[in-house]
Amino acid sequence: MEKNKPVIAISGSTGFVGTNLRKFLSAQNIPIISLSRKKQKPLKSEKTLVFSDVGNIQKIQCDALVHLIGTGAQTISSDYESVNVEQTQKIINLCKKSKIKKIIYISGLGVSDNATFGYFISKLKAELLIKESGLDYTILRASYIVGNDDPLTQNLTNQIKNGVILVPGSGSYRLQPISVGDVCRVILESVRNKNLSNKTVDLVGPKTISFANYVRKFVRGKKAKIKKIPLEQAYFDALNHPENALYGIDDLNIMVGDFTSSHHVLEKLSGIKLKTPEIL
Ligand SMILES: NC(=O)c1ccc[n+]([C@@H]2O[C@H](COP(=O)([O-])OP(=O)(O)OC[C@H]3O[C@@H](n4cnc5c(N)ncnc54)[C@H](OP(=O)(O)O)[C@@H]3O)[C@@H](O)[C@H]2O)c1
Repeated sequence: MEKNKPVIAISGSTGFVGTNLRKFLSAQNIPIISLSRKKQKPLKSEKTLVFSDVGNIQKIQCDALVHLIGTGAQTISSDYESVNVEQTQKIINLCKKSKIKKIIYISGLGVSDNATFGYFISKLKAELLIKESGLDYTILRASYIVGNDDPLTQNLTNQIKNGVILVPGSGSYRLQPISVGDVCRVILESVRNKNLSNKTVDLVGPKTISFANYVRKFVRGKKAKIKKIPLEQAYFDALNHPENALYGIDDLNIMVGDFTSSHHVLEKLSGIKLKTPEIL
């Protein structure tokens, strides 16, 4: 362990953000403890800890824990309460018994005390558990995090294979993508920078873009048509044929929600100049 380098634990380390964060920290030789349900080949400066239930992990020794366990779609065996809320409580318990002082959590852009749909309510409940835990926290309310293989890219790439990308409704609702590289920088800064202590901050990039324009940019140079479908049909498919639907119910809720924010708050608190993601 090198001096002045924090030891950082990551839950949800196998996911999109977790995988990118592990590579980012490992490249800087920052000691990592990755928690996951699956075995992973450790990177440089990384130790891995496999668990079947995060609640059964005994103590771990680190300076901060980045909590990335989460789901954005429900099934009978993996619903919002059991994943987004209960796993957060277990992670808080782990922090307390391990005397980890700092937790960093990724919530969703648009989450508020007035949340009405399941995903946002579960994220709000997780935020409240963290705020009431007494731990030093940074809660980052993320718009779409983009980079190689992000969930939106995966979805659109799969649609391109069928030659058509569907745009629900008008497509005029906006996103404010932030690059996964910037997200990793912000997370590390949250560990180090007291300005981000006990703060809830929107994790958004410098530019907004309508979904329809995002899709237009995405298909540039690729062989695929863009087809608008009525919002009613998109929701009908999400409700009645979830296994084949291209957008889940809460994907649609978030899209239509048109959530945007100012990136200046994050830039000011973190001291990081955020980059416009390449696709924009
Ligand atoms: N990506 C985005 O654009 C975005 C936007 C807003 C908020 N967020 C939030 O950011 C966090 C990370 O996102 P992501 O895109 O990296 O998500 P992801 O790719 O779906 O990864 C989710 C992680 O959670 C783990 N997990 C799920 N259910 C679990 C359970 N019951 N017990 C233990 N682990 C469980 C998964 O582990 P397994 O591999 O074992 O299944 C995986 O490591 C999530 O909380 C997400 O809601 C992401």
